Amino acid sequence: MLLKNLKLQVALVAISVGRTSAALTRRIPCPDGVHTATNAACCVLFPIVDSLQENFFEGGQCGEEVHESVRLTFHDAIGFSLSEGPSGGGGADGSIMIFEDIEMQYPANGGVDDIVRAQAQFLSQFGGVISPGDFIQLAGAVGISNCPGAPRLQFLLGRPNATAPAPDNTVPAPFDSTDAILARFADAGFNSDEVVALLASHSIAAAKDIDPSAPGAPFDSTPGVFDTQFFVEVQLRGVQVPGTTIYRGEAESALQGEIRLQSDAELARDARTACTWQSYVNNQGKMMKDFADAMAKLAVVGQDTSNLIDCSEVIPEPKPLPAANCHSSFPPGFTNADVEQACASTPFPYLPTDPGPSTPVALV
Ligand code: HEM
Ligand SMILES: *[C@@H]1O[C@H](CO)[C@@H](O)[C@H](O)[C@H]1NC(C)=O
Repeated sequence: MLLKNLKLQVALVAISVGRTSAALTRRIPCPDGVHTATNAACCVLFPIVDSLQENFFEGGQCGEEVHESVRLTFHDAIGFSLSEGPSGGGGADGSIMIFEDIEMQYPANGGVDDIVRAQAQFLSQFGGVISPGDFIQLAGAVGISNCPGAPRLQFLLGRPNATAPAPDNTVPAPFDSTDAILARFADAGFNSDEVVALLASHSIAAAKDIDPSAPGAPFDSTPGVFDTQFFVEVQLRGVQVPGTTIYRGEAESALQGEIRLQSDAELARDARTACTWQSYVNNQGKMMKDFADAMAKLAVVGQDTSNLIDCSEVIPEPKPLPAANCHSSFPPGFTNADVEQACASTPFPYLPTDPGPSTPVALV
């Protein structure tokens, strides 16, 4: 008992020492008189972040604008090719906004036009203070901090204006084969584990375009929370579709009202990706860390990071996951018998079935 107390005291001292030294990090007052920063170059971001939260994300919500903004970080950044060189796109360079008239013609950018226009209009209020490439990644990082359970993403400042549009076919489509999807990501510098980690983003997602008979159908039962349910629910045997019929790029899903992309269905069952997929079930911490690492890489595709300044300090601390979402569970009515096990080395864990409310889960 005494020993335990002693250990506890030592631990507390260690924590308070840590706090003190953190507080001693020199901070520079920003010209706005409100904020302080460790790097003065980051000061310009505070008014943008504050206004994003207040006006663009409706007071810090994890809603549609956040979901679309996170998707946009990907559609801009993946416009890059190790094999094609400069003609393959500049990566996370804002080309999707600067050359909107060209890139919005590409089929895989279906449904992205609204957010590109809304962000461009918002950014125009700040008169060239930061580039579109910076803004797209900033909006994604700030936005996702509103989603309980999300990790705090890195944000680096200083991407120059894109000088050319990305070519067509850099953004994977949901009806592409797993071979094609993994090859496209590899050509942009991402391995198959990183692909699966990035798909944690589909935990805060809905589809408007893929299935016009089910507009707004979510990818999991908790689209407002960055949790592991997406990885659970895509592994369940598909039995139905949310709309009237199955559309191109869609696979059957397990839950009523839920949409499943063909690409997600296949990546969850492919020998190259299934083990990583299943490893995220009931492992919020691993999912958060791997997603944060992969997003840090995505946000600087094609950029020389030695020219960028770390302004991660402007990104708000994400909201914690509510206790009810901390562990994966089967939706009401589902059990391990409904799982299509696809990896022996990281077997899908035994999960409790959520007793659920007496009425069916309301999907958005
Ligand atoms: C295998 C690669 C991927 C494919 C084929 C894919 C495909 C799609 C499709 C078809 C939609 C729905 C579009 C609609 O009908 O409105 C969607 C939504 C979304 N995707 Fe992906 N995606 C991929 C990877 C990613 C990555 C890497 C990210 C981000 C890191 C991402 C983030 C999102 C988000 C947040 C949404 C929801 C948007 C909303 O709710 O409005 N996706 N994706
Ligand atoms: C990037 O483009 C914007 C909008 O055209 C412009 O205001 C800004 O000065 C440009 N930045 C650089 C570094 O050229």
